[in-house]
Amino acid sequence: MLATFLDTSDSWITERTGIKQRQIMSEGESLEALAVEAAKSAIENAGVTANEINYIICSNTAKEMLAPTLSSIIVGGIGTQCPCMDVNAACAGFIFALDLADSLLSSGKAENILIVCAEEPTRMVDWNDRSTCVLFGDGAGAVVVSKGGEECTIKTNTVSKPEVLYYRGALQPTPFQGEEECTALRMNGQEVFKYAVSSSLHDIQSLLRSRNIDKENVKYYLLHQANVRIIDAIHHYMKVDECKFPRNIAKYGNTSSASIPILLDELNRAGGLESGDWLVMSAFGAGFTSGALLIKWDK
Ligand code: COA
Repeated sequence: MLATFLDTSDSWITERTGIKQRQIMSEGESLEALAVEAAKSAIENAGVTANEINYIICSNTAKEMLAPTLSSIIVGGIGTQCPCMDVNAACAGFIFALDLADSLLSSGKAENILIVCAEEPTRMVDWNDRSTCVLFGDGAGAVVVSKGGEECTIKTNTVSKPEVLYYRGALQPTPFQGEEECTALRMNGQEVFKYAVSSSLHDIQSLLRSRNIDKENVKYYLLHQANVRIIDAIHHYMKVDECKFPRNIAKYGNTSSASIPILLDELNRAGGLESGDWLVMSAFGAGFTSGALLIKWDK
């Protein structure tokens, strides 16, 4: 279908990215509804009620309605009342949200936190730009996190390079400033590729070192699903078998911060996770932001 209006081909996209399909929001669907659906599904799977959620963090990069926050729509959508906020750390948003959740749990301000990552990057790209539009898909993933032991370490970082990957929305004109044009997603793909591999490698290796955990003792490395070649480069440099790097990018493309929670959910529902398994999650995104998490699965 893409090749009918773009100078591209299925073989180019498959070889360079590993993407075969993407899910794209259509008329009658909304990011808000998708986010609420993911939230309800996570709450049910976690075995808690909506009233037991004390805080909601929503990771989102771009949406039609900037105020109120998407998280405040989710509060109503699941039928509860609690504090909530949106975070935007681009594709690394899930790890940044987990970092905030960790602080809220450690300080005792919350016991059960719902994190929802809901993204619609297909509305950020220019559908005439073959170098970006083929990469992304819409999606939402959610988790409930609760206080556990000390078996979790998170590392986040930002190296400021706004010009390499950005999207600029339009603001209303004022008597002092004219109307600005919205700029569809602009990306230097090769720069992003290099940063993605080097930041993920660095974050993962420093996490493992800090906890003195052997790379082979990690059951799965759940990486941001941006390009299958990025995932392959990382396990190649780490000299870790590719079966420890699950992937679903072929089905969804890059769903921004939703990619890791969707992958985690699929793995969990397929029975792939057992209490006591060490998991590493690692993501990178516009900013450049990056973050990684080492956690012992306990469910
Ligand atoms: N179909 C066919 N050709 C395409 C194409 C497409 N969809 N997209 C780009 N090309 C062309 C380019 O125009 C270029 O043509 P040229 O040599 O005539 O100039 C050629 O393919 C090679 O482009 P290049 O950018 O060198 O390809 P690449 O191997 O680096 O792959 C990406 C491009 C975008 C797939 C890759 O760089 C990438 O995945 N980067 C990371 C992007 C990312 O993860 N972004 C989100 C971060 S959260």
